[in-house]
Amino acid sequence: MYDLMFKDRLLQGKRILVTGGGTGLGEVMAEAYAQLGATVYICGRRAGVAEETAKRIGDATGSKVVGLGCDIRVAEAVDDMIARIWNDGGALTGLVNNAAGNFISRTKDLTPKGFNAISDIVFRGSFYVTLACGKRWIEEQRKASVISILTTWIWNGGPFTVPSAMSKAGLNIMTKSLATEWGPNGIRLNAIAPGPFPTKGAWERLSPQAASGNRGDSAERIPMGRNGEMVELANLAVFLMADGCEYLTGQTIAIDGAGHLGGTGNFSALSRLDDAQWEAIGAQIRAANQKDKTQRTA
Ligand code: HXC
Ligand code: NAP
Repeated sequence: MYDLMFKDRLLQGKRILVTGGGTGLGEVMAEAYAQLGATVYICGRRAGVAEETAKRIGDATGSKVVGLGCDIRVAEAVDDMIARIWNDGGALTGLVNNAAGNFISRTKDLTPKGFNAISDIVFRGSFYVTLACGKRWIEEQRKASVISILTTWIWNGGPFTVPSAMSKAGLNIMTKSLATEWGPNGIRLNAIAPGPFPTKGAWERLSPQAASGNRGDSAERIPMGRNGEMVELANLAVFLMADGCEYLTGQTIAIDGAGHLGGTGNFSALSRLDDAQWEAIGAQIRAANQKDKTQRTA
């Protein structure tokens, strides 16, 4: 349970699917939604993991939480799951495209199969789920909210995670395109680009040396000097899902302690220098200036 910034029962009556909600960030968001009164569905390829998490969250929050086995890479399986959810108490009101796969690798070492292992989940699978829900919402004239979980690499590139960066960038433009196309239907789409929020799934594949539980070196590169806290992500995911900000659509919001901004500046690493180092640098620059001045004719 999280110390959320919202009032109790804020999401009462909402019915939300979180893909990949059996673990990591998906589990965090699923729990926050259930805590605020929503009925929540979570899915993953490992049905047992999804069911176990659903039971834990349901017991902790008192809300209905259902775990489902579904591989979102398979369009027919996605359609079956969505039909099953619709038949289990009515239409969804919200979807979180959270399921993903990723690993670090030099791009030259990737095989086509390795590329597809990521893009089939993130790029294609997230589209299949969005499409299966969107078709029904439009036909039934229902308002809905979609959130896709991206990464900040959509803005500045993702070296060594190119299949993920390309796929997430695709979902970013899906968010903007469908916000326009489906806006007249009352369907809004937004996205969250998290900085590092240590999870077992991500750290084992992206920061293997830190997977054992320490927070890794990612925090050092962040201007705010730390990784994200789960409750911060949960609050943003609730805000984007709740009624009250329907005019907000087509947006991707970074929650990363300014990580992608600090990381792109050429001199961002200088924030680590101490006073003595700045004095030494200043002296060097002034000496160089002085030397040049002595060579000027005027
Ligand atoms: C190079 C690799 C590889 C690696 C797998 N492959 N790992 N290539 N380097 N480290 C290649 C394999 O060799 C194979 O190609 C192909 O990928 C498929 O491998 P499988 O193991 O059969 O894949 P599959 O069972 O489909 O599993 C998918 C997966 C796996 C993506 C590889 O990691 C997974 O299930 N991940 C789900 C959870 C996850 O990744 N969570 C992290 C999300 S974090 P060949 O040609 O050799 O057969 C995130 C962003 C975090 O997205 C941002 C932090 C700031
Ligand atoms: P995670 O725990 O590994 O979560 C990934 C989830 O996706 C798992 O529950 C997995 O379950 C599910 N999944 C993978 N392939 C699937 C498929 N084909 N069909 C259905 N479900 C599938 O990792 P995480 O860190 O929480 O990542 C969650 C999301 O946040 C991802 O979109 C990731 O890109 C994003 N993100 C994370 C961070 C971070 O710091 N953690 C930062 C930026 C963005 P199964 O294995 O059972 O299928």
